[in-house]
Amino acid sequence: MIQILRRLFSSSDRLKTAAVLERLPRHIGVIMDGNGRWAKRRGLPRIAGHRAGAKVVRAIVQRANDIGIEYLTLYAFSAENWRRPKTEVSGLMKLFEEVLRADLEQLHANDVKITVIGDLDNVAAGTKRQFQEAIEQTADNSGLRLIIALNYGGRADILRAVNALAARAAAEGRFDTLDEDTFSDSLWTNGVPDPELIIRTSGEMRMSNFLVWEGAYAEFWATQTLWPDFSPDELQAALTDYQNRDRRFGGLTGEGPDAR
Ligand code: FPP
Repeated sequence: MIQILRRLFSSSDRLKTAAVLERLPRHIGVIMDGNGRWAKRRGLPRIAGHRAGAKVVRAIVQRANDIGIEYLTLYAFSAENWRRPKTEVSGLMKLFEEVLRADLEQLHANDVKITVIGDLDNVAAGTKRQFQEAIEQTADNSGLRLIIALNYGGRADILRAVNALAARAAAEGRFDTLDEDTFSDSLWTNGVPDPELIIRTSGEMRMSNFLVWEGAYAEFWATQTLWPDFSPDELQAALTDYQNRDRRFGGLTGEGPDAR
């Protein structure tokens, strides 16, 4: 027994444990998938799956805030999701509005700062207003930054940025060669560090136009669990897996920024 304990707490293990605690991602992106299948398996309408998914959003936001994650980006509605049946789209918009209205005080009390990436202009008026209120009310908060990707597409964002930069260059009559930082600053995620970890539920292995530029070096973690069954414990499992990965960024083992 003593030997086992000694082995567990040998100095190299202690160092390893400390390193693992220190290697939390600053920014996690989540592709919440599987709400529809969850509902179908229960003979329920798809919106019931989204409602169940919204409960999980609450639990995950809370856990991420508790552990000290700085940025959490949730893929709530993609620019492609407009292709879904009208009733599902309007149901989702209403749900976003409802959840935000119901949870805003609590999120604010927990110091969560809410922002949106995506084109808010085309979403339902009530939903847009509720998001604007949430963004304004929580603007000075300094806890978890909760980024909702709404009517979001990674490619659309890249094109938007390129067009804005080109228009500026044309207006100024000159073009400075771009570097990665300047380009990143032109995206909806400007000022937000790239996600180190992207989680996708429901067994799908696609990026689906999520954080296309920002996620270039993200570690991908997938689970078969459908989003409404995802839990804070599973988030923790993803984090543990991430912490044990060797991030090389094209270099050799131990050479990445995480190697310090
Ligand atoms: C994908 O599952 C999920 C969505 C398109 C919507 C995500 C929305 C929520 C979790 C609701 C609450 C969110 C917030 C931010 C309050 P799917 O419908 O594509 O599932 P399927 O692949 O099984 O059909």
